[in-house]
Amino acid sequence: MFVYMLNIHLILIFIVNICQGIERPLVIGHRGSAYLPELTLESQSIAHAYQADMVEIDVCLTRDNQLIVIHDLYLNAVSNVKDIYPNRSRSDGYHYVIDFDLNELRNLTIHERIIPFTNTQVYPARFPSSSSIPFHLATLNETIELLLGLSHSTNQQYQLLIEIKNPEYHSQYNTSISSILISTLQAYNLTESHHPIVIQTFHIEDLLYIRENLNSRLRLIALLTWNHLNESSSNFDFYRSEEGLQKLETFVQAIAPNMELLVNFAEDGSIINVTNLTVLAHKYNLAVYPWTFRHDTYKGNFEQLIDFFHRTVQVDGFITSQPDIVIELLEKKI
Ligand SMILES: *[C@@H]1O[C@H](CO)[C@@H](O)[C@H](O)[C@H]1NC(C)=O
Ligand SMILES: *[C@@H]1O[C@H](CO)[C@@H](O)[C@H](O)[C@H]1NC(C)=O
Ligand SMILES: *[C@@H]1O[C@H](CO)[C@@H](O)[C@H](O)[C@H]1NC(C)=O
Ligand SMILES: *[C@@H]1O[C@H](CO)[C@@H](O)[C@H](O)[C@H]1NC(C)=O
Ligand SMILES: *[C@@H]1O[C@H](CO)[C@@H](O)[C@H](O)[C@H]1NC(C)=O
Ligand SMILES: *[C@@H]1O[C@H](CO)[C@@H](O)[C@H](O)[C@H]1NC(C)=O
Ligand SMILES: *[C@@H]1O[C@H](CO)[C@@H](O)[C@H](O)[C@H]1NC(C)=O
Ligand SMILES: *[C@@H]1O[C@H](CO)[C@@H](O)[C@H](O)[C@H]1NC(C)=O
Repeated sequence: MFVYMLNIHLILIFIVNICQGIERPLVIGHRGSAYLPELTLESQSIAHAYQADMVEIDVCLTRDNQLIVIHDLYLNAVSNVKDIYPNRSRSDGYHYVIDFDLNELRNLTIHERIIPFTNTQVYPARFPSSSSIPFHLATLNETIELLLGLSHSTNQQYQLLIEIKNPEYHSQYNTSISSILISTLQAYNLTESHHPIVIQTFHIEDLLYIRENLNSRLRLIALLTWNHLNESSSNFDFYRSEEGLQKLETFVQAIAPNMELLVNFAEDGSIINVTNLTVLAHKYNLAVYPWTFRHDTYKGNFEQLIDFFHRTVQVDGFITSQPDIVIELLEKKI
């Protein structure tokens, strides 16, 4: 009962937050923004400067249990790790974050995402991966200090959406990445639902753990996808059902599904019809933030795509690599 009431309280605050002066859906900068190498402080700064309502980041643990901001469990797609530590890969050829101490990782430089072991950029239209600018890995602490510092210096409220990467993988190393995250946030006094931090992960049971065992009052979002992608052992077939959404309502404020769970697309990328997931989620007071809207790779008409998700699907937010473009399109349409 207590948990239930706590949640009503959280949901109300969440709705108030969302409604504060924002008439359009939220715009969330995926890995910062697409304009500089992903997740660097520079890339995050651009998303903040473009007035993204939130900046989405991913966190992993180093060997010495420090939280760093990186998307993959390995370092090879975004750094020069193989040049700096040629003898530290595992038998699959990859260098894993968990095998390095933070001080070792500070020696790396970061570049635009490539296909590991090639010179091929994943997103050719983005910042050149061959650039010699020494971007660096950001720690979570630095990212929080950027958020708080910019909020102070610009007198605007920025928010961070923190994705916990693969809690089950981290637990193989006997560490609860969720506990370390919550205690790190506590050290910054970031504990309340009105604070500028939101947490998401694909391992839904970790969200329940954060709410019920760690007693966190922070806003939580359930990432949803298909079971066959193995993003976690959570049963997404269940969490996408009416019964599952009803359960989610008791401990999270929103769902973040891949956009193909909300809309059926044809082979050529055109829209066929809308699924019932958004309507069902709204029935259980869950906001809906689909991902990932990429202007540089979408084959169809990006403006029509955004308009469709806004007006027809009626999502509550967009997770996008180009927050500036999505904000412009949404504000133009109001
Ligand atoms: C690291 O590997 C290179 C070849 O990949 C080898 O020449 C070198 O001796 C190794 N260094 C150490 C310290 O094992
Ligand atoms: C990495 O940085 C540490 C200091 O934190 C230094 O002792 C070490 O030699 C550096 N390693 C390489 C390969 O540059
Ligand atoms: C984790 O803890 C278990 C049980 O205490 C132990 O058997 C295992 O070796 C530990 N693993 C690591 C990677 O420390
Ligand atoms: C980050 O901040 C936490 C909490 O203050 C602290 O325990 C931790 O050592 C810091 N880590 C780094 C890498 O600065
Ligand atoms: C957190 O709040 C406590 C109590 O109000 C205060 O003493 C401490 O300085 C704050 N810490 C930070 C990092 O703001
Ligand atoms: C997910 O795991 C199953 C069973 O281990 C495997 O067959 C499948 O290829 C995996 N899928 C992906 C996308 O990795
Ligand atoms: C929507 O499209 C899918 C895929 O083509 C189809 O299986 C489904 O029956 C359609 N649903 C409705 C309500 O038209
Ligand atoms: C929603 O759609 C799914 C898949 O098409 C279907 O299995 C489910 O029964 C529908 N749920 C409701 C409540 O309409």
